[in-house]
This record gives sequence, C-alpha cells and structure tokens, in this order.
Amino acid sequence: MPSAALVPSRESGFADLAPRHIAVHPLTGHIGAEIEAPDLSRPLSPEVVDEIRAALLKWKVVFFRDQPLSHAEHVALASAFGAPTIGHPVFGFVEGYPQVYSIGRDRFATRHTGEPLIRPWTGWHTDVTAAVNPPAASILRGVTIPPYGGDTFWTNLAVAYDALSPTLRGFVDTLRGIHAFAPPEGQAGTADFKEKNRRRPLVSEHPLVRVIPETGERVLFVSPSFLKSITGLTPRESQQLLDLLFEHITRPEFTVRFRWRPGSIAFWDNRTTAHLAPRDIYSLDFDRQLYRITLKGDVPVGVDGRSSSLIEGEPLEAFTAGTA
Ligand SMILES: [Fe+2]
Repeated sequence: MPSAALVPSRESGFADLAPRHIAVHPLTGHIGAEIEAPDLSRPLSPEVVDEIRAALLKWKVVFFRDQPLSHAEHVALASAFGAPTIGHPVFGFVEGYPQVYSIGRDRFATRHTGEPLIRPWTGWHTDVTAAVNPPAASILRGVTIPPYGGDTFWTNLAVAYDALSPTLRGFVDTLRGIHAFAPPEGQAGTADFKEKNRRRPLVSEHPLVRVIPETGERVLFVSPSFLKSITGLTPRESQQLLDLLFEHITRPEFTVRFRWRPGSIAFWDNRTTAHLAPRDIYSLDFDRQLYRITLKGDVPVGVDGRSSSLIEGEPLEAFTAGTA
C-alpha cells in the first residue's frame, strides 16, 4: 500500500506531496500524465512505487517513454503494484508467460465473423467488467508500433460522473447493471469464440456508480462494450439511458489520446477509466503489437454500500503457478 502521506484524496483536491523520485507531466486538464521515472526494467524503490501510484490515482492513466521491457520485466513491474491475473480469462496468454496477454493488430479479425474485420467490435470499454472483480489496473506496453495511426484513448469516469446534473447523479447512484462478455448485437461470433465463451462464461451485476476506497471518488462505472442493461428498467428505458451515459463519458474534454512509440508503456486505473482501442489501423497495412498485464481488482461497491454480484463465471484470481 502507498504511504498515507502520498495518497491523494478528494478532500485535499489531490494535493499530494510533490514527487521527489519521478517527474509528472500532465497531458490534459482531466486525465493522463507522462512520467519520467527510473529504469522500469530494474526493481523499483518503495518511494518510486508510491509516487507512481499517487500519480495514477490522480491522473487515471500514466505513460512512460523509452522503457523497452521483456515479458519477464513486464511481469516484475506489474507485480510491484499488485497481483497480476492470468493474461485473459477467455482468450489466454503468451506462451511461457501466463500473466501476459498479446494484443496484436488482427486479434479481433476472425473472432466473431470468421472474416477479416471491417468494424472492430471492441469500442469504448473498461477491461473485463463482466467479471465480478474487474482488474484494478492494466499495464500495456508497445513493441511494434505503426509510423502513424493506432492511437489509444482513455476517459476519466470520475470527472464524467461529476459533470452530470445533481438530479441525474442522484438517480444513477441507485442503479445497477448487467455486464456480460458477449459479442455485440448482430454479431453471432465464431464457433471458436462461442466455445471459449461457453467454457468461461462471465456475467456480473455492478453498481453504475462505484466508490473508490482510497479517494472516496464516485465514478460512472459504465463500460460500453460490456454493460448490456440496467436492472429494473424496461429495455427501452435501459437502452436510452445507457446511450446517454455512453455518449456522455466519451466527451472529448474527459479524454486523453496517446501516440504510441516502441518502448512506450500505458498504465491505467481500470476502476476509474474507460478506453478505446484504435479503429484506424484496420485501414492501414502496418503491424502493431502490444502486450498487456492486468492486476487483480476488488469487487466494486456502490454508493449505497452494496457490492457487485456474480451471476455467471468465477472471480478473476491472481495468477499462481499451476492455475494456467
Ligand atoms: Fe482494453
């Protein structure tokens, strides 16, 4: 855990101590900071870990440049901040590195249609929210990066929550929704996808607003690709309110856009952000290869103190030898 003095709080306006071991360069008004840090391939001091963690709580996603890591170094870095899960609960992991999930250019190309993909289905989302305990954070590293195209976006779900009217905040505070890992409407999925999904079904009910323990922040925990319906509303009410919220959380002023380079690392708080995988690379011929590690997360808790509930599947556990 970070030392108390370094944990920013909502009450203090995130007035944390100035970092002394890293340099934090904010990129936008609400989200994203580039961090100058010591060599991340080496073991980090507790002070550096605390300062990066504080910057992450404040800026929601932090970026590092020119930090090329091996798979093993990536695992070691992630382990300094939490417990890595298995690469992906449905789609597996990199051979020999059970905590590492490969994100290649064409990973979605045949998953649902069996045909080269024209419109990738993974739009704005928060990672693995179909699990009852979605990952606390994700650490994504860029290896092969196109000369242009393939940028990633993140949005700040705490600021999005604050920007709702008090009346609507009061309403969404009371709501819960069903998150499922399933192809979107109109896409049946390939036999391979369906089989993998059948073996590891994931469905959970989460509060639409979760409270972050370290900061007391309330965040609009809506993950457009996974949140399918709002409990207790008619299908029409549910869809129209979700459309409103999904449009709201992706307003440009809540977002940051990151231009990858080889050796870049993006480290995001998966509880307080959603992100958008790039669409433009599917019209370009460049290769793109990134690797992701996710850290085990808590079961979300709503404003009323109620926890999320598991409907199908298993909680995401930290990887331990033998579980792969
Ligand atoms: Fe993602």
